[in-house]
Amino acid sequence: MKITIRPENKNDYKNISLINDMAFGQENEGLFVEKIRSNKKFQSNLSLVACMGNEIVGHILFFPIEIISETNQFETLALAPMSVIPELQELGIGSQLVEKGLAKAKKMGYTSVIVLGHAKFYTKFGFTPASQFNISSSFKVPDENFMALELKKEALQKLSGCVSYPKEFDEL
Ligand SMILES: CC(C)(COP(=O)(O)OP(=O)(O)OC[C@H]1O[C@@H](n2cnc3c(N)ncnc32)[C@H](O)[C@@H]1OP(=O)(O)O)[C@@H](O)C(=O)NCCC(=O)NCCS
Repeated sequence: MKITIRPENKNDYKNISLINDMAFGQENEGLFVEKIRSNKKFQSNLSLVACMGNEIVGHILFFPIEIISETNQFETLALAPMSVIPELQELGIGSQLVEKGLAKAKKMGYTSVIVLGHAKFYTKFGFTPASQFNISSSFKVPDENFMALELKKEALQKLSGCVSYPKEFDEL
């Protein structure tokens, strides 16, 4: 099964929403992606699609957010949402999306990523509880599901703070 991963383009918008709707079994994530494209921080080259032939079978989005402390603020990326169509889950497509996405983010100069998600899945890529870096969430989440990853060695070592998401994330 040959999968290619590339940045989204305008022709993909409808299918990206559909894939998110199918994977999550609800419309919140698809609508979120549609809305967040209007946010000036959105970068289409951090919204990646996995394709099998011409068909889009998966999607991942990384969005710039901030970790805010009393004295400082620090740019990081949120990984959310990500989805693979139900018939093709558990075949490694999600892992390829994460790996390619992290490599791309690193190449673009980002030094860390935050994710709220399945601990078993994301720890495979090196994510660990964000609390280990003294990074907290602005809403209540189980410690093991709120995770961080350094793309650059020690990028998160000397800071602490609370992750601030743009308002569009409230609907996720
Ligand atoms: C999560 C998701 C994107 C993974 O994509 P995928 O192509 O199935 O991923 P891979 O085949 O690379 O890896 C599968 C791994 O994900 C794990 N996984 C998938 N869904 C999971 C869940 N709900 N809870 C915990 N682990 C999960 C599997 O157990 C498997 O682990 P293993 O390799 O140790 O057996 C896909 O399952 C999906 O779209 N799920 C519905 C939407 C969703 O939950 N998105 C992520 C929100 S954090």
